[in-house]
Amino acid sequence: MTLPVLIAPSVLPADFSKFGEEIHALDEAGVDIIQFDVMDGQFVPNLTFGPDVIASVRSYTQKPFEAHLMVLTPDVMAQRYVEAGCNRLIVHAEACTHLHRTLENIRSLGATAAVALNPHTPASTVEHVLDLIDMVLVMTVNPGFGGQSYIATMEPKIREVRNMISSRGLNDSVHLEVDGGISPSTISGAAKAGANVLIAGSALYKDPKGLAHAVNELRGLATAAFAD
Ligand code: DX5
Repeated sequence: MTLPVLIAPSVLPADFSKFGEEIHALDEAGVDIIQFDVMDGQFVPNLTFGPDVIASVRSYTQKPFEAHLMVLTPDVMAQRYVEAGCNRLIVHAEACTHLHRTLENIRSLGATAAVALNPHTPASTVEHVLDLIDMVLVMTVNPGFGGQSYIATMEPKIREVRNMISSRGLNDSVHLEVDGGISPSTISGAAKAGANVLIAGSALYKDPKGLAHAVNELRGLATAAFAD
């Protein structure tokens, strides 16, 4: 049995002046998870928010929170993000000298752990830590900003990660997430390649018919493609 198709928003395009209401609106629109793009201005050029901002909106929804830690030193603040209410922490393999230890630490804090791979990073990077994670994130843009174009050449890597998960009999316990440039025109390629969790920022917030329409359209397209 493979895990279900899940739609998760990136909150980067949200109106931070009313962040709590924006989180509630995403909940109402039917998203499955809410992803917070944490950026430190070092690992990526952009700078966003820390655990206190996430904690401030925790009460606006019961949906799971995940922190995508686009930071140079994820170990330093991991506990603070879990205490802020994150159910999953996503660390970048490129930022972790001792990735196995970092993932064990996240699990010891009571969260699930996931590994993100930048476009240049090979799928094999996660081969020896699959037993410690519940998700692999294949970046389909170079991290740091929303609104970028989907890198379609990542689809063979998505397929390679899906095959790795499948061959280990982990399809019912390890998600495959993609993040970056996901829209109605790109989501089917990502899902067909094996992604079951799809992050969208711009595509959600730019839909003239609103968040709920965007979520439903993306979920329908991804479910149909994933089943193929
Ligand atoms: C990259 C960001 C974006 C964001 C999604 O660092 O993490 O990928 O989540 O942005 P869109 O959906 O606008 O590409």
